[in-house]
Amino acid sequence: MKKRIMKNMWMAGLLFCMCTQLFCSCGRYRPAAKDKVYAGVICYNQNDTFLGQMIECIRKQFERLENDALDITMTIRDSAGSQRTQDDQVKELIDAGCNVLCVNLVDRTDPSEIIDLARENNVPIIFFNREPVAEDMMQWDGLYYVGADAKQSGIMQGEMAVDLIKSNNRIDRNKDGKIQYVVLEGEPGHQDAIIRTENAVDTLKDNKIKLEKLSYGIANWNRAQAQSRMLQMIGQHQNKIELVLANNDDMALGAMDAYSKLNITRENLPVFFGIDGTDVGLEAVLEKELSGTVYNDKEGQAAAIAKLAVAIVSKKGMEDITFKNGKYIYLPYSKVTIDNVSAYLGEYKKNKK
Ligand code: GAL
Ligand code: CA
Repeated sequence: MKKRIMKNMWMAGLLFCMCTQLFCSCGRYRPAAKDKVYAGVICYNQNDTFLGQMIECIRKQFERLENDALDITMTIRDSAGSQRTQDDQVKELIDAGCNVLCVNLVDRTDPSEIIDLARENNVPIIFFNREPVAEDMMQWDGLYYVGADAKQSGIMQGEMAVDLIKSNNRIDRNKDGKIQYVVLEGEPGHQDAIIRTENAVDTLKDNKIKLEKLSYGIANWNRAQAQSRMLQMIGQHQNKIELVLANNDDMALGAMDAYSKLNITRENLPVFFGIDGTDVGLEAVLEKELSGTVYNDKEGQAAAIAKLAVAIVSKKGMEDITFKNGKYIYLPYSKVTIDNVSAYLGEYKKNKK
């Protein structure tokens, strides 16, 4: 008796399976499964001019990728300069169900806690802008990096300075055959600070420009800090400074603020070079106050981040992405001077809409 009941139940089960299979394989009635990307985007400090604009680009790129088969939800967090806060935010976003994270580390040498959390929960991470050291990137195969090559930006800044100095003999204002210069540097330990400085200076030297370094100031990418460092340097060297190399546009603008605060006349001004091509930086190039900047392609980097995030979650399109060493994507920099700035301004106005 028991055997018969079992047999009947088994038969009923089989019949049920056959029916559901028949129903499901009838493509017309099967609703297409949507891919759902829940992206958590965390920024080291949204007061940073370049990063503030870049986060906006990431938001736009994710929006652009949404379609009938793809839902994207993006949550943004600002770590306001604290790695502890950032670690907590990673935990919070993983608990909230994010299936991919885009992390702009506060301390690029200290991602272990974040990596452990991500690996335990199997949530891949795309780091951006602040590059973890290679050993940390090797800790898990769910880790990627999107950024740009610091060396290239330094070389380009140096080349623009070489071109200007060679074509304009008024840069060497005291006519001693040397260019007296100062450097404004970003955060110590950031891959874009020391490498940019070294390569800009080496490029000038390689091109036979005689240099005299008067001083340098660390201003942590920040306009107000750059202004106060520059005020100190002007105090020490008065009108001797002929060239200011800044690791980013905000610091170049801060240096210019110092000169205007002191009401120094135009003929006693040095020439200034920045890096980033932020909105304010591009405007300053257009106004001929900033002699040149190097465009840090935030739109390109944001597009690469969004595309990679979608490919990771949907497990589609990974083969269309070109990586360096299997996990790195670097976007190229480009030079911006008065000759081509309008094209870049046009681009940013277009993106603002
Ligand atoms: C650099 C950028 C700086 C600053 C920094 C923050 O790439 O040039 O302006 O935003 O990143 O990590
Ligand atoms: Ca000189």
